[in-house]
Amino acid sequence: MPSRLPMREKLLEARDRRTALLATNFYNAETLRGILEAAAELRQPVILQLTRSSIDYLGLGLALAMGRAAIEQYGVEGWIHLDHATSLDLVERCLEAGFDSVMIDASEADFAQNVALTRKAVELARKTGANVEAELGFVAKLGQEADSGGMTDPDEAARFVHETGVDSLAVAIGTAHGFYKATPCLDLERLAAIQARTGVPLVLHGGSGVDETAIRAAVARGICKVNVATETKDAFVRGVKREIQATTDIDLRNIFPPAIRDVKDLIKQKLGMFMDGSGRV
Ligand code: 13P
Repeated sequence: MPSRLPMREKLLEARDRRTALLATNFYNAETLRGILEAAAELRQPVILQLTRSSIDYLGLGLALAMGRAAIEQYGVEGWIHLDHATSLDLVERCLEAGFDSVMIDASEADFAQNVALTRKAVELARKTGANVEAELGFVAKLGQEADSGGMTDPDEAARFVHETGVDSLAVAIGTAHGFYKATPCLDLERLAAIQARTGVPLVLHGGSGVDETAIRAAVARGICKVNVATETKDAFVRGVKREIQATTDIDLRNIFPPAIRDVKDLIKQKLGMFMDGSGRV
C-alpha cells in the first residue's frame, strides 16, 4: 500500500513540484472500478469525488465505504473529496464521516457571504485535518450560460485566501462544467497572477474537454488539481448503451465490464497528463 499524505500536504507537494492531481467523480461501483484500475495500472494517485447528488443516490455511508474499500483493494494512493457542497450541513456530515477533503461552494453568493461560509467550513475542517477547497468567480454549472458571470480577480483571490484561511481555491479562468460548445480558451495570465498573489494550490473545474496542451499550461501556472466528471460519466453510459444494443444478454456482469474498460482507458489518458519522466506524480 503506498503511503498516503493528508490531501492538504499532497496538494502542497504538487504545487511545489508544479504538477497536479486528477480528481474525478464516481457514481457507482463500475465507474469507481474503472478509475481505480487505471490508477493502479499507472501507479498514480487519484482523488475520488462525490457530489451531493451522488451521496443522495448511494447514501453517505455506502459512498464513502465504497471509495475507501476500492482505494485499499487496488493499493492506490487516493482520497475522498466532497465536490460542490453548498451547505455547511453537508460539509459537517462528510467531515464527521471521515472525508479527506471538502469543497464549500458559495461562489454564487456575494464576496462577504462566500468568505463567511468558507471560513466556517475551514473552522470545521481544522478539527479533522481535512483539506478545504472553495471557489471564487463564476465557473458555469450544467445548464448555466458560460459567460454569465465573471472570472476570478487576482486581488480579490488574495483577500479571499487571507480572510478565510482556505487550503485550495477553485478559479474561474475560462472553463465551465459539462460539454463545451466551443473550445475553451484559458486566461493563463490571470491564472499566473492568482497563483502569485495567493500562493495556495489552485483547482481547475470543468476539466472535461480541455485539451492536454491547455491543461499542461494551466498546471505550469499553479493548477494542482484538475476535476473531470462529465467525461467519466459519458464514457460509462456510452459503453453501457453500446453493449445493451449489441446483445440480448441480461447478465449485467457481462454488460458492464466493457463500459468499465472505457472508463479505465479514459482515466489512463487523463492521468498520463500528470506523469513526469519518473512515472510518478
Ligand atoms: P466536468 O464535468 O466539466 O468535467 O467538471 C467537473 C468538475 O469540475 C467537478 O467539480
